[in-house]
Amino acid sequence: MDQQAVEQAVAGLPIQEVRYYPQVGSTNDVAARWAEAGANDLALVIADEQTAGRGRGGRRWFTPSGAALALSLVLRPRAWETHGALTRFTGLGALAVCEALEHSYGLNPAIKWPNDVLLEGRKLAGVLAEGHWLGDTIQALILGIGINIAPQAVPPDELLNFPATCLETALGRPVDRLVVLRAILQALVRARLALASPAFIHAWEARLAYQGSPVQAFTPTGEVVTGQILGLTVEGYLRLQAVSGELLTLKAGDARLGCISVRGQ
Ligand code: BTN
Repeated sequence: MDQQAVEQAVAGLPIQEVRYYPQVGSTNDVAARWAEAGANDLALVIADEQTAGRGRGGRRWFTPSGAALALSLVLRPRAWETHGALTRFTGLGALAVCEALEHSYGLNPAIKWPNDVLLEGRKLAGVLAEGHWLGDTIQALILGIGINIAPQAVPPDELLNFPATCLETALGRPVDRLVVLRAILQALVRARLALASPAFIHAWEARLAYQGSPVQAFTPTGEVVTGQILGLTVEGYLRLQAVSGELLTLKAGDARLGCISVRGQ
């Protein structure tokens, strides 16, 4: 992978500018600095290796050289896109990964709400959406996506808090990272057109993992609620019916979700 190869891979897509790095701390940080310096909507940062990649809740995200896709898009949310909630952008990233993997490779990924992409119950990809605000106005939203492509990208056991897999293992053959990159960006640009519509929430809901199974939601106060997933609110929050019958709405920043049989983090 290099700057030219990435530019070729995204040719014809509405990606404004591309910055490729052989190694960075976190592509989300590089994209945030670029956004502050004036990067346009859909500017792309991509790295071969991250030394300080991070996931939700400050968890470490493993990105060794040559084995993964680590990318961040600078998005400049338009007024109509922020009517619901910015949570939708996390869904946008996860949905784009799912749709790309389905269309390009015939896979059937699911979303462990809000941001994990699973293949047969194992984590393949994660999404980290970070907003940058001036007062109450969003200046930029950095949408980071990390995908395990080759087996070396699957974190060592001591870093694993959930079973993981990679695309090459799922397909049983080598995969070109740049083909995956193009498919994801294409899916993302298309899905974003519907971001503010009910159809977007329905598409996200249809991909939710653990539907019909008992799940546990871990709340920030340490409370564990057991229940069943009912669906999503218009904002992209999770609707859950607790075993007590109580109806709960969980915000992405507030809750972690686990299937009872595969207790996640
Ligand atoms: C998660 O699973 O909690 C989200 C993981 C997001 C990882 C991606 S890799 C590209 C971008 N840069 C980062 O440091 N994180 C995101």
